Amino acid sequence: MAVKHICCIGAGYVGGPTMAVIAQKCPDIKVTVVDINEKRIAAWNHEDLSKLPVYEPGLDEVVKEARGRNLFFSTEVDKAIEEAEMIFISVNTPTKTYGKGKGMAADLKYIELCARQIARVAKSDKIVVEKSTLPVRTASAIKSILENTGNNVNFQILSNPEFLAEGTAIQDLHAPDRVLIGGETSAEGERAIQELVDVYSQWVPKENILTTNVWSSELSKLTANAFLAQRVSSINALSELCEKTGADVNEVAKAIGMDSRIGPKFLKSSVGFGGSCFQKDILNLVYIAKTYGLNEVADYWEQVIIMNDHQKRRFANNIVSTLYNTVSGKKIAFLGWAFKKDTNDTRESAAIYVADDLLNEQAQIAAYDPKVEEEQMYADLDYLNTRSADENRQGLSVYRDPYEACKDAHAVAVLTEWEEFKEYDWKRIYDNMQKPAFVFDGRGILDKKLLNNLGFVYYRIGEGA
Ligand code: NAD
Ligand code: UGA
Repeated sequence: MAVKHICCIGAGYVGGPTMAVIAQKCPDIKVTVVDINEKRIAAWNHEDLSKLPVYEPGLDEVVKEARGRNLFFSTEVDKAIEEAEMIFISVNTPTKTYGKGKGMAADLKYIELCARQIARVAKSDKIVVEKSTLPVRTASAIKSILENTGNNVNFQILSNPEFLAEGTAIQDLHAPDRVLIGGETSAEGERAIQELVDVYSQWVPKENILTTNVWSSELSKLTANAFLAQRVSSINALSELCEKTGADVNEVAKAIGMDSRIGPKFLKSSVGFGGSCFQKDILNLVYIAKTYGLNEVADYWEQVIIMNDHQKRRFANNIVSTLYNTVSGKKIAFLGWAFKKDTNDTRESAAIYVADDLLNEQAQIAAYDPKVEEEQMYADLDYLNTRSADENRQGLSVYRDPYEACKDAHAVAVLTEWEEFKEYDWKRIYDNMQKPAFVFDGRGILDKKLLNNLGFVYYRIGEGA
């Protein structure tokens, strides 16, 4: 039986782009992406493709090709579940903010709600695919919910974690390093795995589609994110030592990256990693290890987060101490608010935490980001609950013009590595700033020589004097 109808619950950063690409590459499959968030669905259906709720290079083209043909966005969750032979669950799995495991464990309430809804609505056999990132052994919880509803429907649960990175989602989906599919080892399990392999093999070479048991697949996703984040924390840990010793972290990264066992990727020192997943997934891994009593394993991985928090705080502290130990009343321009370039996503962005620290020091922050809306920046600060919403609005001003943001500033801080920052007229920025004019490059992207020649006092993360 070839799958003809796919439903995906959750139209977020993963559900939207992933399903758009499946629909693009499999024109014979009807793909319906559903969400309870009406505003989000309306945005996915917006005629003007620049209004899609997720900004990703190339996404508009994919949506344009498939939407209305075999790709649909809808709030009618029950209908889409009923129609589909294969249901992806791609809802959010944030860190728990209450109860047992607060601040560490993944909150699975949305996953459970989906499972219960599928159980209630399904009248025919379904393959349920975990697309969300989940703690190892979640499939058994989903299975137990689905199998105890008494409506005689057979369910197969697959784990198919997503490895796309934001900003390159379409590229990653078109040519993934690998697609991972975990399933039961029974004959039914293998049939279900094959159904999903058949979907991906429409465009992914067979040798890049890896099949495993469910638990390996679930755990591989957490492990992959932990390893990636660990590389960033490792290079960031060294960046501080470089600054003290006169070494340059970029040169160190290049030197070690040429060792083929280490490899050159993911060694860019920064103001700290952000994004919705690294921290959440490592905390989840730490929590799982602790629940099995594996305290050394838990402590080992927790250090990745501790180092990252330190990196963000140290960047803010350096601004304060360099500006003569006070930023009170001083305008500090922020270039970038998103957690990385080419996305409008700000979840866990280092910029939020650096801003929070500087607001505690009574700085006046002037933020500019090419893709992030003003209200999002305020919402990010309000979410921290450090001060009132009014105080956040007094301390942070949001600009649509980077030159205005930098005008009269004592310092410019680069928080995101947007390409356009490199192209700015830095002389114009310098002329309109307070003197001495400082630049704190938290991404190491600007031309040091040029900035020094213009008269800036330039600080680059990981570069010793
Ligand atoms: P998101 O918050 O952008 O989207 C989740 C969507 O699910 C929301 O729109 C929400 O309204 C919807 N939703 C929640 N409960 C629902 C329900 N019961 N019925 C219908 N809709 C419901 O999250 P995301 O960034 O797309 O992440 C989703 C999952 O994918 C997470 O587990 C995450 O860890 C994982 N993941 C994310 C990325 C990434 O780059 N963002 C990459 C790989 C994996
Ligand atoms: C990351 C993983 O790369 C994806 O494979 C995974 O699917 C995803 O998490 C997820 O599970 O959500 P993403 O967070 O979108 O993707 O972006 P990354 O490119 O991994 O960057 C994460 C953060 O690390 C960013 O803040 C980035 O600026 C920072 N980073 C990355 C560095 O500081 N240095 C680097 O060398 C690389």
